[in-house]
Amino acid sequence: MSEKLFQKPKGTADLLPSVQPIWQKITAIAKEIFEHRYNFGRIDTPLFENYDIFERTSGDSSDVVSKEMYDFYDKGKRRMALRPEGTAGVVRAYVENKLYGPEYEKPVNLYYLESMFRYERPQAGRMREFHQLGAESFGSDSPFLDAQVIQMAIDFFQAFKLTNLLVKINSLGNDASRAAFRQALVDYLSQYEEQLSQDSKVRLKTNPLRILDSKDANDQKLLVGAPQILDYLDQDSKDRFKQVTDALDAFGVNYEIDEKLVRGLDYYNNTIFEIETQDPKLKSAATICGGGRYSGMVEEFGGPDTPAIGFGIGLERLITLIGEVEERDQVDVYIVQTDSSVSAFANLLAKRLRETFHFSVLLDYTNRSMKSQFRSADRTKASYSIVIGDQEVQSKELTLKKMADGSQKKVLLDNLRIEDFS
Ligand code: HAM
Repeated sequence: MSEKLFQKPKGTADLLPSVQPIWQKITAIAKEIFEHRYNFGRIDTPLFENYDIFERTSGDSSDVVSKEMYDFYDKGKRRMALRPEGTAGVVRAYVENKLYGPEYEKPVNLYYLESMFRYERPQAGRMREFHQLGAESFGSDSPFLDAQVIQMAIDFFQAFKLTNLLVKINSLGNDASRAAFRQALVDYLSQYEEQLSQDSKVRLKTNPLRILDSKDANDQKLLVGAPQILDYLDQDSKDRFKQVTDALDAFGVNYEIDEKLVRGLDYYNNTIFEIETQDPKLKSAATICGGGRYSGMVEEFGGPDTPAIGFGIGLERLITLIGEVEERDQVDVYIVQTDSSVSAFANLLAKRLRETFHFSVLLDYTNRSMKSQFRSADRTKASYSIVIGDQEVQSKELTLKKMADGSQKKVLLDNLRIEDFS
């Protein structure tokens, strides 16, 4: 049998107890900022959906759909896919549960913290199973909402004291502007078709906008004289983009307009944005947040015409930047047993301390020497230790030892108060 069978799949991770504190902190900060400050409600959607919902929304020419999808046929011969991103599932849920109904406050604000799956080449910050903290807002076309959503992502990063962030923003305009630009770009690049990289040659036919963010140096040279997207915005789209950047200015957001920004998924129109880190730890995966407007998707799923905007934050990338992993919960009491004959008493004491004082209590289950139990009490940074031997079992008098200074205090079990441990 192959050894590989017992290794985790490439590009996945085990989240061991030592890293759980940072995930819990992320969940708590998301709740505080998204749910409390900005009034977004949490949503969890299925881990797999009908393949078609990703193909129709993300675009069958995007890498996410054409190369990276984990798709399969279930036993009923339905084509399914593990979600590669969160937006399509949330839109499906929004329409299916009729969250556009009059009983729901507009805009309808939803957020999620879920794992996503993409068959990518694993490297730092690029995994096959990764987690996104995402937010989607339905029902308002206000440019202030664009600025507010970007500000919400920034607030989240600021809670982790992340600096060195660059907000890049662009506009794809409305459908008419986008189509006009696409045509101009195809006309321009067709002259150089033979010189384009292999990938870009294909994209010229399928998804020409993606050529703009090609990593190929020669493609980039050819793009120097290419039409610029902002020149193709019609007046409405231009005015709208100006209102968004004015609102960002008023909020004091530091951003850069990047005309080459197009995003990897096909569903966007008008405002698109990404937040990048300059930290060298994430060289080729510097984008820690990406999002934009995607009006039209709700209609495509059979809902009413509904403007929408959202973003996704890559949490593994965030954790790479934060680096530090905090300690687990403080151990309050370590119970040291002289030998196994006192285990019944020691275990009942542990139960009582947990129940009465909600303490974190540890004790040995492997018959180790007292010396090695004391070593564990030190290693786990327990605040107090209590030695249990025959004498304690008989007298019910406990000696509480404060580990920080070695001071001791005797208390009868029935008289124990939480103050005795302060
Ligand atoms: P996305 O740009 O494909 O957008 O992904 C959002 C973020 O997820 C990226 O900026 C990155 O931080 C993280 N990410 C993507 N792929 C990986 C990977 N293989 N490993 C680790 N992290 C990764 C979306 O998914 C859109 N649904 C965002 C959105 C929501 N737009 C509107 N609403």
